[in-house]
Amino acid sequence: MCGIVGYVGLREAQGVLLNCLSRLEYRGYDSCGIAVSNGHIAQFKDAVRVGALKETCPIFEGTAGIGHTRWATHGLPTAINAHPHFDCSQRIAVVHNGIISNYDQLRKLLIDEGHLFVSDTDTEVIPHLIEKYLDDEPITAVEVALSKLEGSFAIAVLIDGYDRIIASRKESPLVIGIGDNEKIIASDVPAILDYTNRVIYLEDGDIAIVSNNEVQVKQNHGGGTVNREIHLIDWDRKQIEKGAYDHYLIKEIHEQPKVIRDSLANYFERETYDFQSLIDSETSSLVILGCGTSYHAALVGKHIIEELLGIQVRTELASEFVNRGRVMPASAAIAITQSGETADVLLSLKKMKQSVARIFVITNVPGSSASRMANHTIFTNAGPEVSVAATKSYTAQLIELYKLALSSNLLEHSIRKQMQAELRQLPALVKQVLDSESEIANYSRMLSDCSTVFYVGRGINFPVALEGALKLKEISYIHAEGYAAGELKHGPFAMLDKRTPVIAMIAKDDVYDPMISSIKEIKARSSPVIAVADESDDSIGSLADVTIRVPHTSSIFSPVINGVVLQLIAYYTAKYKGCPIDFPRNLAKSVTVI
Ligand code: M6R
Repeated sequence: MCGIVGYVGLREAQGVLLNCLSRLEYRGYDSCGIAVSNGHIAQFKDAVRVGALKETCPIFEGTAGIGHTRWATHGLPTAINAHPHFDCSQRIAVVHNGIISNYDQLRKLLIDEGHLFVSDTDTEVIPHLIEKYLDDEPITAVEVALSKLEGSFAIAVLIDGYDRIIASRKESPLVIGIGDNEKIIASDVPAILDYTNRVIYLEDGDIAIVSNNEVQVKQNHGGGTVNREIHLIDWDRKQIEKGAYDHYLIKEIHEQPKVIRDSLANYFERETYDFQSLIDSETSSLVILGCGTSYHAALVGKHIIEELLGIQVRTELASEFVNRGRVMPASAAIAITQSGETADVLLSLKKMKQSVARIFVITNVPGSSASRMANHTIFTNAGPEVSVAATKSYTAQLIELYKLALSSNLLEHSIRKQMQAELRQLPALVKQVLDSESEIANYSRMLSDCSTVFYVGRGINFPVALEGALKLKEISYIHAEGYAAGELKHGPFAMLDKRTPVIAMIAKDDVYDPMISSIKEIKARSSPVIAVADESDDSIGSLADVTIRVPHTSSIFSPVINGVVLQLIAYYTAKYKGCPIDFPRNLAKSVTVI
């Protein structure tokens, strides 16, 4: 995780670095720092958020510098462990994202040679290694130092007296923004959009030597110079502003009707799908994997595909799959990942490549590592998602899964037409849910005093229950459990009492009757029930303590509609509690460690 930036240009670097870092805080925010070069390297770092660093940082003159916002892996979040890290002579500053797995061994070696370490981080070995080889040209010293590192990294190196920044990546994202007479290095595209929309995505093993008017890219291990294409990014700056909203999260929740419309635009206009029949008669079994919210989308995807196409789907938590000894074969695999950089997903993909012929990735980030590993990439149209909690990206993932299933030649024509007609209605239905925001906000006030909340559903709404619970814990810090409603009687009933609300998703589908039975059983344990139910449901009102009515859809689409209700519940509950909604404690948006 962690966000790194670098700037070389004609402006004062400090303002640019701090601005870019504030755009990267979703990657980690327990401490931050900058270093600016101007005859010597000046640095400032602290265990605070970027906003606070802006207030306290002295003014450094200089038009080249690097910066970092941290999510601690090695060592506590303290000022000493914050980046940049330095060599003994304080001439070499390094910011790093990733993990150096052989740092202990390297550190011992360097200490034996007289190097003095001040932090507990793995990163600190990098400037010391560069120092060790600095008799050579800076670029050669960096190359040799990198060849000693094991693990994953994206780094930016600032060397006193050298007017370029050296940047490199291995299994960690790094982009270079190409401005007029200025270049910006960053972990991710949103950081640079204030300055340019032209970017180079570095590849694994690339070393870039970056000056204000040139980017030279070499391949590590003595490889030659390579050309990396410049890509135009069509995200615009407004998408990464909060605008009039209190938080990114609520802004992103509100963007969902547009996200769905955008995702469907081409699909309906052209009456074809770019990935026509990716799931076809050759697909006899499919595996879908992801982590967190993306895993919940995978679980919904299993229902969609099994139900509509009759293909067997296995779902995998990437964080589990990655350590699995034996990989069961499948004819195709889909990895779902908003960021495209989740380490568990990337390693799972690597593993999967040995036994699965066709690999698709559904991701929101063009140029991401996952997209480069796939045979086919399906880009979601969510736009940049800043808040750590995933909302619009989940909805966009579901839309791609619907499109994928509906495009299959295995689907009967009449069902396809009926489903497509319903899909067209989704933006309007989600808007209808958003219109009942104040009512949902009122119910959420009740939850903000609770210490445990259960979420239950059956069938396709079971993963929605898991997602609702994840969202609540993540941003409100209230303990929440997502359960298959029928499982409550196998243990969790022991937890239920009048202080433990249960949020129940109940759709008008095949599992309606068993859901009603579950709600009755819950009521018999005195728990208050908040039902999220179809507007046409006449019976639920007399059973539940509170009923949140949602517009009618086929239950296959209810994960979208109900998902939005649960996002609003989590948001308002966290807001009543005064939680730091966009940047919850201990988390980061892009989880690049395993
Ligand atoms: O970028 P990814 O979709 O691969 O991320 C996976 C999870 O880390 C992510 O969904 C996480 O669970 C979210 N913070 C949930 O809101």
